[in-house]
Amino acid sequence: MKKIILLTGIIAMLLVISCNQSKEPNIVLLDSEWKFKTGNDLNWAAQGFDDSSWGTIDPKNTWENQGYKGYNGYAWYRCKTLIRSSLKDQSKITDSLQIFLGKIDDCDHVFLNGELIGENGRTIYEKLQPADDYIKQHGLWNTDRRYLLAQNDPRIHWDQENLIAVRCFDHDGPGGMFGKRFEISMTGLRDRLKFDFASSAFVYNPDTTVTKSFTVTNITGTERLKGELKIEATLSDNGISIYSNRSIIELSPHQKIETSATFRKNMAVPAALRVTFTDAATRNKVTEDVEVPYILTPESPSEPRINGAKIFGVRPWSPFHFKVAATGKPPLKYTAADLPEGLVLNPETGLITGSLKKKGEFVVKLTVENQLGYAERDLKIIVGDVISLTPPMGWNSWNCWGLSVSDKKVRQSADAMVSSGLINHGWSYINIDDGWEDTHDKNGNILPNYKFPNMPGLCNYVHSLGLKIGIYSSPGPKTCGGYEGSYGFEAKDAQNYASWGIDYLKYDWCSYGNIAPDPSLDQLKKPYKEMKHALRKANRDIHYSLCQYGMGDVWSWGAEVDGNSWRTTGDIEDTWESLSSIGFSQGPCSPWSAPGRWNDPDMLVVGMVGWGPALRNTRLTPGEQYTHLSLWSLLAAPLLIGCDLEKLDAFTLNLLTNDEVIAVNQDPLGKQAVLIRKCDDFEVWARDLEDGSVAVGLFNKTEKALYVPVEMIDMKLEGKHAMRDLWKQSDLGIVRDHFEMKVLPHGGRLVLLKPKFNQN
Ligand code: GAL
Repeated sequence: MKKIILLTGIIAMLLVISCNQSKEPNIVLLDSEWKFKTGNDLNWAAQGFDDSSWGTIDPKNTWENQGYKGYNGYAWYRCKTLIRSSLKDQSKITDSLQIFLGKIDDCDHVFLNGELIGENGRTIYEKLQPADDYIKQHGLWNTDRRYLLAQNDPRIHWDQENLIAVRCFDHDGPGGMFGKRFEISMTGLRDRLKFDFASSAFVYNPDTTVTKSFTVTNITGTERLKGELKIEATLSDNGISIYSNRSIIELSPHQKIETSATFRKNMAVPAALRVTFTDAATRNKVTEDVEVPYILTPESPSEPRINGAKIFGVRPWSPFHFKVAATGKPPLKYTAADLPEGLVLNPETGLITGSLKKKGEFVVKLTVENQLGYAERDLKIIVGDVISLTPPMGWNSWNCWGLSVSDKKVRQSADAMVSSGLINHGWSYINIDDGWEDTHDKNGNILPNYKFPNMPGLCNYVHSLGLKIGIYSSPGPKTCGGYEGSYGFEAKDAQNYASWGIDYLKYDWCSYGNIAPDPSLDQLKKPYKEMKHALRKANRDIHYSLCQYGMGDVWSWGAEVDGNSWRTTGDIEDTWESLSSIGFSQGPCSPWSAPGRWNDPDMLVVGMVGWGPALRNTRLTPGEQYTHLSLWSLLAAPLLIGCDLEKLDAFTLNLLTNDEVIAVNQDPLGKQAVLIRKCDDFEVWARDLEDGSVAVGLFNKTEKALYVPVEMIDMKLEGKHAMRDLWKQSDLGIVRDHFEMKVLPHGGRLVLLKPKFNQN
C-alpha cells in the first residue's frame, strides 16, 4: 500500500512539472507552456497559489501574438519545475545557478518560490519587496533576462518542485516574455570567459587578405584560465577550411588580451570564423562563430553616373537645395538644361539652389561629364504642397552618439559624409537628435546647450558641403532624454529652426504622455497639428518627421497633420530580434505610403553604433545587414544611417553605396512593398516600380541557408521577365512562372524583374 501511495505521489509530482526536463542532464528547459493571467496581484508569486484556472502561454512568443492583442499593463507568468541536485553534481564549475528567461517586453519582477530574485534583468541578492516604479522602466524589452543565484541560496529548493513566477509590465507594443533561451543551468566556462568581436570591424587589406581583431577576457575575479585558443575560417558554401591557427593562452583574473587572425579570402564570398577556447584543466570548451562580411556591391565605374532621387518637391518661395548625386573619376562637371527661372546650378559641385515662385512641374535635363565620358538623366521638379517626394536619406546622431552629440561630432559627420563619398549616392541629411537643447530664454527663443555654441554657423557649414541639416524636439515639456521640449513654444521654435536653416524636424512624443496620459485619437493628433501650423508659417521646407512609435495607427492620419514620415514602431536595436520583428511587421501600413508620406520603421543599425560615447560594431551579422538594407529599400523607408561616419569600414560603406538598391528605395512611384508570401522560414516582399518592373526581396528567417521559392503569380506577373541581382548588379537571365534562390541565414536577396515583351 505504502508503495502504491509513493508511486502515485511520484506520478503526481511528474504531472505538476509543466516545464520540460531537457535531454541534456545539465540543463532544465523552461521553454514549454507556462501558466498566464493578465492583471496584478502579489499573491500570485506564492508557491502554494492555485493557478489551475489560469490560461497557458508559450514564453517564446509575446502575449499580443497569443490572443491578448492590444493588452498593455501587468500580467503574470508561472512555471513549476524540478531542480535536481544532479545539475550541480554533473557540472565541473558549480558555484552558481542561472535562470534564463529569454527577453521581456518591457519590465519584470521574478520570484522563485515566493521570494523576489530579480528585477528587469538584475539579480536581487538581498530580501526585498518589489517596487512598482522600478519595474516600470523603459527601453528594456530587448535585454536578455539572466538571473544568477549562489548554489547555496535558500530560495532554490534542490530536488523539489520550484515555482518561478514572473510579474511583467508592458508600456505598449507586443508585451511579455519572448526570445530563445529559457532554461536553468549551472554557470560554466562560458560564463567565465568572454570573447568580444564587436570592438572593431573586419578589415579588408589591399593584398586581398582580411584581418579580424578581437579580445578574450577572463571575467572571473579569482581564477586563472589557461588553455588552447583555436581560430578557424571556413567558406560558408562548402565548409572548406581557409585558415586554422592554435595557440596557448593564459589569463589572470580580469585580464583581457587582444588577438587577431589574418587570412586570404575572396571579398565577395561568405565565410565564417570559429573561435574555440579549450580549458586545459577541465577540457571544457567555449566556441563562438562570427560571419565574415562579404562585399557584394561592385565599385562605381570611373565614367560618370547620376544617382539618387529622380524627383524633387519644393514649396513656392522656399529655399531650393538639391545636390545632384553623381559618381565618376573627378573632376566632374555638371550642367542642367531647362532649369526653371529662379534656380542656378553650381557646375563644379552639382548643387542647385534658388527658389521658385509658382506651383508647377518642370523636367530638367541633367548631365555630368568627366574625361572618360558623359551621363544624363531627367530630374522632375514639382513645385507644390508636398515635399520629400522620395524617402529622406541621411545620417542621425542617435544610434551612435546618443545624448553625447555635439557641434564637433556633427561637423565631423558632415565632413565624413562627403569624404567617404556617401554624398555621391544621394545621402544628404545630417540630423541632430536629442541632446542639443538648453532652455527657452525670456523671449521664448530656444537656446542650444554648451555643446552647440553656434547653431546658424553649424547649419551654414553643413549647407556649404551640399548637405542638409535636421534637428529634434518633443511636443511635451521635456524630450525623452530629459532636455527642453517645445510645449507652449511651438511657433517660436519653428521660427528659430527656420532662421537657423534647419531642413528636417524629428518631433518625438516623449513627455507629452504626461499631458495626455491615455490619449484619444484627437489628443494624439493635437500636438502634431500644432507644430504643422508652426512649420507652415516658417517659410522653409522642413521635412516633418513624426515620432510617436505608431500610436493610434499614425500611418492612417500622419498625412493629415502634414507629416512627411512617421515612425511605425518603438526604437530599433542592433539585434536580429529587433530588426526582424520591426521589418517584417510593416505590411499593415503599406497602403498609406506615398510620395512625401513615408512609413518609418526607424533608423539603420549598421557600422559603429552605441547610443552614447562608447561605440562598438553592430551586432547584426553581414547577412542580417543585407536583409536590413534590402527590406528598408522595399519598404520605401527613410534611410538614416545611425553610425559613426568617420569609422566606416569597407563592408558598411559598400552596403550603403549600392545605387541599384538605393534606386528601389528612391523610386518615384513611392509605393511600399507588400508581403506576398510568408511562412515560418522565409518571407517574400515585392514592390512595384515606376517603370513597370518589380523589386522582389527574398528573406531567410532561419539560421541555416535555404532556397526561397517565388511564384510569379503571387505578384500577378505573367510571361517572361529579365531578372537582375541588385546587390551584385548582374543579370541573372530570364524567368517565368517560378524561380528560387539560395538565401544565407537571416539573409536577404534583392532582385529586379523587368517584363520582357518580346516573348520568343
Ligand atoms: C526616442 C526615439 C529615439 C531617440 C530618443 C531620444 O523616443 O524613439 O529615436 O530620438 O527618443 O531621446
